[in-house]
Amino acid sequence: MPPDSPGGGNLIEDAAAFYAAVAPVYDRDYALGPASTRLQTAWLARRCPPGPVLDLGCGSGRMLAPLAQAGFTPAVGLDCAPEMLVLSRRASPAAPLVQARAEAGLPFRAASFVLIVSLHATLIHLTDPDAVAAVIADCHRALKPGGWLVIEVPHPRSYPPDSPPGRWRVFAPGISCRRVEDGLEELRLDDHGGIRTRVRLWEIADLQRWFKPFSRVELHPGFAGGRFDPSKGLVMVVAARR
Ligand SMILES: C[S@@+](CC[C@H](N)C(=O)[O-])C[C@H]1O[C@@H](n2cnc3c(N)ncnc32)[C@H](O)[C@@H]1O
Repeated sequence: MPPDSPGGGNLIEDAAAFYAAVAPVYDRDYALGPASTRLQTAWLARRCPPGPVLDLGCGSGRMLAPLAQAGFTPAVGLDCAPEMLVLSRRASPAAPLVQARAEAGLPFRAASFVLIVSLHATLIHLTDPDAVAAVIADCHRALKPGGWLVIEVPHPRSYPPDSPPGRWRVFAPGISCRRVEDGLEELRLDDHGGIRTRVRLWEIADLQRWFKPFSRVELHPGFAGGRFDPSKGLVMVVAARR
């Protein structure tokens, strides 16, 4: 389906249902590769002393074994989609895995983890800004004092300008986007029946409110260092210390 085509397949707003549909092709078409996983793991290990980690929205589990090898044990994976947890189980047979929706409350005691990661745009699937704030506050509760929450999401500038309004634009290879309303985009998988879902833009102005419980909040242009570079795709990493 060409990026500017008006059509689209089913709109699947529920993240678990959307990833149930994507799971069969996720690793081949959408997962971050081993080089990104190594870079991210090394970055996390430099920043945070070893201990229990939660991978919130662990997807196909690419981070679980590398995190455990870096000393983050146990490396617990949580995901709302059973079909994605099957892939995680394959990638990391020994990892504790939990099926849950982040917004339903993290099923862990207070001060359980030294590190919580939520990478590769997982949390943009929470479309309600109050749910984002609640999940971040819940992560604060589940972290030990001094622990880190590290979230990777698209920089708001990685969504091309909404012009003309509501038109499909290229977001990434094989993925189109269109603005639904202020702060809300629809993403379409062009090669997979054009199935669509809705995601929240993370505006810089939201961060101060959402990360209020944390003692320190840092914004990084990805894990490779350097400056924000649109030609490399714009992600932002929010690292918040409890
Ligand atoms: C784009 S994948 C990223 C996977 C992984 N974080 C990575 O870096 O490779 C997003 C994953 O988050 C899960 N997810 C999305 N929203 C979620 C939610 N509200 N609660 C739990 N898991 C969620 C999806 O099922 C999917 O497996």
